[in-house]
Amino acid sequence: MKLTDEQKRMQNGEKGPACKLAMDILVALGEINGAECMIPIKSAHCAGLSLKSHGLAGTEWAEDLAKSGAKACVPTTMNVIGVDRSRDLRLPKEWTKNQLRIEDAYEQMGCYGTSTCVPYYLGFIPRFGEHLAWAESSAVVFTNSVLGARDNREGGPSALAAALAGCTPYYGMHIKENRLGDVLYKVSAKVKTLTDYGALGAYVGKRVGTKIPVFEGLTEPNTEDLVYLGAALASSGAVAMFHVIGVTPEAPSREAAMKPAPYDIVEITDKEIAEGYSQLTSATERKIDYVAIGCPHCSLRQLEEVAKLLIGRKVAPDVTLWVHTNAAIKEIAKQLGYVKIIEDAGGVVTQDLCTILGNPETFGFKNLATNSPKMAFYAPGSNGMNAWFGSVENCIDAAVSGYWRG
Ligand code: F3S
Repeated sequence: MKLTDEQKRMQNGEKGPACKLAMDILVALGEINGAECMIPIKSAHCAGLSLKSHGLAGTEWAEDLAKSGAKACVPTTMNVIGVDRSRDLRLPKEWTKNQLRIEDAYEQMGCYGTSTCVPYYLGFIPRFGEHLAWAESSAVVFTNSVLGARDNREGGPSALAAALAGCTPYYGMHIKENRLGDVLYKVSAKVKTLTDYGALGAYVGKRVGTKIPVFEGLTEPNTEDLVYLGAALASSGAVAMFHVIGVTPEAPSREAAMKPAPYDIVEITDKEIAEGYSQLTSATERKIDYVAIGCPHCSLRQLEEVAKLLIGRKVAPDVTLWVHTNAAIKEIAKQLGYVKIIEDAGGVVTQDLCTILGNPETFGFKNLATNSPKMAFYAPGSNGMNAWFGSVENCIDAAVSGYWRG
């Protein structure tokens, strides 16, 4: 790879062992992917910070790196961790202690302890065309597709390496020509709710793999709809980017969004959306013991919706309801009274953690109800829970009645 003099100095160890390690990781990644050079980045987002992903060996590695003087040289946010730093959720003490060691190590390296998968809700909003090194697949697909920034699906180590070196290999989604759509999905189905978007993403993600889907016929999705569409595409498939014609910035028209014809065209009718819903439903038993909302982390608007659904109702005594968000959004939701309504009803608004990267399975939950396509996809493998997937109304009804009646 062609490196600048500064990058060569880092690789030679002249800027310390952490920068050398970072450049070794980035050069290896670049060579594997055929990159000719590095590109400077404007920001990074480190993921894989849960103890589930890091393990104890990874924890010690991060602590050693922090001790060696490693420092992020671009604004760097942190993804969800496996504990809620504001309260005792009665997760195992050893788990909590080791999880906090990871958080501390990354903060020592200059990363912001945002502990969220939606840093763009917190003001970390990349500009159109900026090059990034973000990990967390749901965030990457959002920055590429909705914001028009340029970002590959980084892993935890490569995002941290890029944060330390200030650059990333120039390949994949960083190159304009690689951002054109591969498959056109003509949507005639009624796609209205957040979970409809999730079901659409799950159906298409499973079939499109790593290609770039382009949607035609989706009218006026809101931001949360696009977040859920992307999260479902990126979990059921390995999608890094999608376009919605007339909505996302690189898709003003079909011609602008797509590679030159011929390309595959697939119709999406109500039947395919129904298939997306059933693809995400792994539970058969209607008795529910756990309801979780907020994957990706809830926006303020989503917390308001949950609160309104819980006014004058109580979560069933044998059901646990967790609503995941981050500390900043939770604080505003507190001021607006949403947190009190949810918690007076018997739910818990968590911060910093989520179902998949925390370990609520420690409480023995077996049957989950969720409106999140990503959680429904991962919970059977990550948490050993079977999932019902449906609207937030259905999920709150399940929390109150103890049964899935969707
Ligand atoms: Fe975020 Fe955890 Fe879901 S990181 S996207 S809430 S799996």
